Amino acid sequence: MQMSDSIEVADPHVAELIAAENQRQGRGIQLIASENYAPVSVMEASGSVFTNKYAEGYPFKRYYEGCDSTDQLEQLAIDRAKALFDVEWANVQPHSGSTANMGVYTALLDHGDTVLGMALDHGGHLTHGSHVNFSGIDYNFVGYSLDPDTERIDMDQVELLAKEHRPKMIVVGYSSYSRRLDYERFRAIADEVEAIMMVDAAHFIGLVAGKAMPNPAQWADIVTCTTHKALRGPRGGLIMGKAEYGQKIDKAVFPGIQGGAIFSQIAGKAVCFHLCAQPEFRAYATQILSNANALAQGLMDGGLRLISGGTDNHLMLGDTRSIDEELTGKRAASTLDEVGITLNRNAIPNDPRKPWITSGIRLGTPSVTSAGMKELEMATVADLIIRTLTEIDNPGTLADVSVATAELMQEFPPYLAGFPGHV
Ligand SMILES: Cc1ncc(COP(=O)(O)O)c(C=O)c1O
Repeated sequence: MQMSDSIEVADPHVAELIAAENQRQGRGIQLIASENYAPVSVMEASGSVFTNKYAEGYPFKRYYEGCDSTDQLEQLAIDRAKALFDVEWANVQPHSGSTANMGVYTALLDHGDTVLGMALDHGGHLTHGSHVNFSGIDYNFVGYSLDPDTERIDMDQVELLAKEHRPKMIVVGYSSYSRRLDYERFRAIADEVEAIMMVDAAHFIGLVAGKAMPNPAQWADIVTCTTHKALRGPRGGLIMGKAEYGQKIDKAVFPGIQGGAIFSQIAGKAVCFHLCAQPEFRAYATQILSNANALAQGLMDGGLRLISGGTDNHLMLGDTRSIDEELTGKRAASTLDEVGITLNRNAIPNDPRKPWITSGIRLGTPSVTSAGMKELEMATVADLIIRTLTEIDNPGTLADVSVATAELMQEFPPYLAGFPGHV
């Protein structure tokens, strides 16, 4: 075996799986709200020789030799993140969104401390206090929820809970909530109870980068995020915010919870931040919102009830019972996948069904927008989804929809021929 062998020569089995995945991503309509198509330049960087480098520590303060390019790379990524999000301090080392959150909690909380976060079954993330996650095991999370009438965050409840429990930190952010966040009110509540305000912007940070949404860093002490969702970067995490917290969080990330950072991913992050600073990315972020709005409208017109009656961001949650009381999120999602429309089942607020089954589906527009689709195509996609759900027992309809999804995707190939693994 030669070091320079391509994957097709060195490992045809994995090469085949990559080609199959490339085909799947190009053949179906990808509506998973937390996914995207990373640009080839980002994937080149994250598949680069930086994967070989160990450089524990931070730029220009390493425990290893040979770090010249690595130091420059990490500093470049930090400087780009600071400029893009207008923050005093950033750490680009977290391996993922979860470790970004873990880094912040480790730095700023003691085990057992009380934290206010959005309840998981109302849209929060596992790392916002789920009892099966380190966050819920190590800390005393109290969950805030949605107002049952408006299905929007009940800010009066947030205030009441904050006054009652005096949390050390308030976590703001979500994985499946489709409305804007009231940062001003969260800030006022945090100030009133002297809590640290952390915004987990994993889902919508790309919309912030593209100036299509307010920047949470204006209000928050700390912002965490992933780099692989609407931001369209490599898989990874990012922490940023006020300089006063920087040293503590840097220490918590390394050596606290991680060893060597993954510099190939940091190279991908640096490219991603550069691309996000270009005018084209603003147009992309704005289009994500317009597409989400068009998709939501089409789905509601077709009879699918959306939680809170629509969306202000890139995602929406549909209540499958509005199509048919018996229709579960699980069946809806798996049938849609069979016809080439990929999304995920998702619990809706106060869902009577178990998380494995659910009564909802979550849809998002970052990937289809990267593929070049616009409002017109969103209307078509909404129609295909409604046809599938309303005629789920009709094999003829499902076959027709399969053909239509494949035809639509042929017009919008996410990667042009020539991309490695392209078939
Ligand atoms: C709000 C939020 N925070 C954190 C994460 C965790 O990111 P990762 O899967 O990279 O650990 C996610 C992932 O979906 C998320 O939605």
